[in-house]
Amino acid sequence: MLPPFLRRFLLSCTVAFVILPGGQAQDAHDPSAFRGLPVRSTLSNPSIESRVELLLNQMTLEEKIGQLVQYSAGTPTGPGTGRGDYQDMIAKGQVGSLFNLEDARAANRYQHIAVEKSRLHIPLLNGLDVIHGYRTEFPVPLGLASTWDPKIVEKAARLAAQEASASGVRWTFSPMVDIARDPRWGRIIEGAGEDPYLGSVMARAYVRGYQGATLGAPDSIIACPKHYVGYGASEGGRDYNTTEISEHTLREVYLPPFYAALDEGAASIMSAFSSLNGVPATANPFTLTQILRKEWQFPGLVVSDWTSVAELISHGIANDGETAAWKALAAGVDMDMESNLYHEHLMDLVKSGKVSEAQIDEAVRRALRVKFSLGLFDNPYTDETRENHGPLAKENLELARAAAERSFVLLKNKLTGPRRVLPLSNDTQTIALIGPLADDAAEMLGSWAGRGQPKDVITLKSALAQRIGAGRLKYAAGGTIMTATEEQISAAVTAARSSDVAILALGEDAPSMTAEASSRAHLELPGRQEELLQKVAATGKPVILVLFSGRPLTLTWAFEHVPAVLAAWFPGVQAGPALVRTLYGESVPSGKLVVTWPHSIGQIPLYYNALNTGRPAGNADLTHPAPNSNEKYVSRYIDEPNAPQFPFGYGLSYTEFRYSPPESSAAKLSANDLNEYLHSDKAQARPVITVGAHVTNSGRVAAEEVVQLYLRLRGTSIEEPVRALKAFERLSLAPGETKRVTFSLAPDVFALWDIHNERKVEPCRVSIWVSPDSERGQPIELDISK
Ligand code: NOJ
Repeated sequence: MLPPFLRRFLLSCTVAFVILPGGQAQDAHDPSAFRGLPVRSTLSNPSIESRVELLLNQMTLEEKIGQLVQYSAGTPTGPGTGRGDYQDMIAKGQVGSLFNLEDARAANRYQHIAVEKSRLHIPLLNGLDVIHGYRTEFPVPLGLASTWDPKIVEKAARLAAQEASASGVRWTFSPMVDIARDPRWGRIIEGAGEDPYLGSVMARAYVRGYQGATLGAPDSIIACPKHYVGYGASEGGRDYNTTEISEHTLREVYLPPFYAALDEGAASIMSAFSSLNGVPATANPFTLTQILRKEWQFPGLVVSDWTSVAELISHGIANDGETAAWKALAAGVDMDMESNLYHEHLMDLVKSGKVSEAQIDEAVRRALRVKFSLGLFDNPYTDETRENHGPLAKENLELARAAAERSFVLLKNKLTGPRRVLPLSNDTQTIALIGPLADDAAEMLGSWAGRGQPKDVITLKSALAQRIGAGRLKYAAGGTIMTATEEQISAAVTAARSSDVAILALGEDAPSMTAEASSRAHLELPGRQEELLQKVAATGKPVILVLFSGRPLTLTWAFEHVPAVLAAWFPGVQAGPALVRTLYGESVPSGKLVVTWPHSIGQIPLYYNALNTGRPAGNADLTHPAPNSNEKYVSRYIDEPNAPQFPFGYGLSYTEFRYSPPESSAAKLSANDLNEYLHSDKAQARPVITVGAHVTNSGRVAAEEVVQLYLRLRGTSIEEPVRALKAFERLSLAPGETKRVTFSLAPDVFALWDIHNERKVEPCRVSIWVSPDSERGQPIELDISK
């Protein structure tokens, strides 16, 4: 225990940053850490609260229930009510929110009805899935996360908010912050991957971008982290499936990005389709009431997922719509998306006394709070002249290109002779560009592409033709994603034969194979694409595989035989220019994997931050990489190595980086001291130790490197992962240059959820790595004593 005067002094310190040589500042705390305090929210303030109460007092029960009802009035994204015209209901005050409206005119048309015709003139809240851009489409979220660059993600979200709000959208159902450890799950494309820390950093960046400096600004939209909670753990990667997650794992892995998003001020949250430990997430009192309302004291709006209230019947915890509505509302779902059950049954439920009017009032307050915060009562309409129908602005395209370039992960780049395959030399005379994704503009937009338009996209083919001239480019689609004829394949082979190099643009079909309801049991290239790849490679020409996908694909043959592979995800409107600049080395790849890339389907689930076993294969400190040990009684397959194809955090550059062993400012810490700070609001601003390493660019080109800090806690009351990411920093290094990265670690970095599910720092042994990915590097050790 520190003496009180010292404690007061330390608590008053706000040293949150350490300035690095080179000018970077490294944030000192763990943004995913539950602070043991309510989430920070700007939603609830005295002036808003008094306006909410004033209005609530004037509302009839029917009008109150109306605020809890939401319908899709446009392109459906699920099997809903099928109704499309809500004018009468809005005029009667029976609808609180619409979504999927086409444009600003449609938004204003419905808003006029709500504001002018309904008795109390309560505006509608207009939502849409704005997931990775509205009109200016950015890389899909998995790609955006692969940038490890929260600043660019925040900028992308800001631009999306500006464009969406100009069309009258003030609510996006984003970010998806579900941790996903199974690439078969189609929705892995929508999130930030498998790590709770990185997921939390990204969650905060999206929220800041969408919500802007103040919610009341006309270009702010409210964020809605989803799908609360555990949806990413759907059994077998099958969408909508069951999840079984212990409270410890829930708190350590699945909850942190939600906490981070709400603590950053996200004004709403969406409940998931899936069930958690036998209780559907949309009627789960533990997650919705105990954690969200009681522990986090979240004052914002909880919306169900699409018909997830009605789905309580399929889940088997309700035999009729009335019970489903009752269970969802009682657990804490304020707004019913598309089930129509709140509209149909809440009135009777109140009359029968099963639901109290106080419960309804509480939910209505949350909806009204959001509407007041957005300034909708004062400015309900959108200025239609803001909506952009013209070409995209140059600076927006530059941002989209920069984000795409940073999202690319170079997986392989083999030495062939004196140089590597990539970057391409300007002397390369003729290029064969092959594959169904080389010139497909719509595919580049990825899934959930908002109001993105194929005509805004520059494909790889057009960007490459522009660069080298159509005469030097031999293009052959080689078939479609799913089919190819012999003629198409042989035309591609002929193109490769008569060129210096072949670039193959292969991958998945974004609309049908990624995102919702698109889980895959097989993760190879669809159709005859692998055959196409093999036949082109057999020409002996250097082959570069540009892979477009919403998840890791198990391409064992390609990773063995193709000399260069670039994971491009779905890069958005600037796909072509970003790829061409990368292929020619004007942009050096710096993206890193945010999901472990499996070698085979049988290894799934496979994630870096696993627990060790009592019988680890190979190195006792790591579940992988495990040498292909022949030992029998260890945790491994008899017919497949444990090691992934590529680990979490992995990504090559056109240069090489050398890391010095890490050094720390202390070898010992005290758990008591750390716990002193843990539950105070200064916990994150109080660095207790710095850990640093020197990183040298030992190659010939200037490049950026994402330096990662991991730790492992041993000797704790409950098992902790073999490595857990706790900080990272993007460094920019000239050839030959060395910089020291210093990570300043606050007490929360060392905290865990203990065996009693309490958050604390325990006496333990800590290993800390500063490394280029989740597998490499030598740790430094320190002790946390009592
Ligand atoms: C269902 C999806 O699960 C969810 O992510 C989305 O926001 C809603 N539909 C609304 O489109």
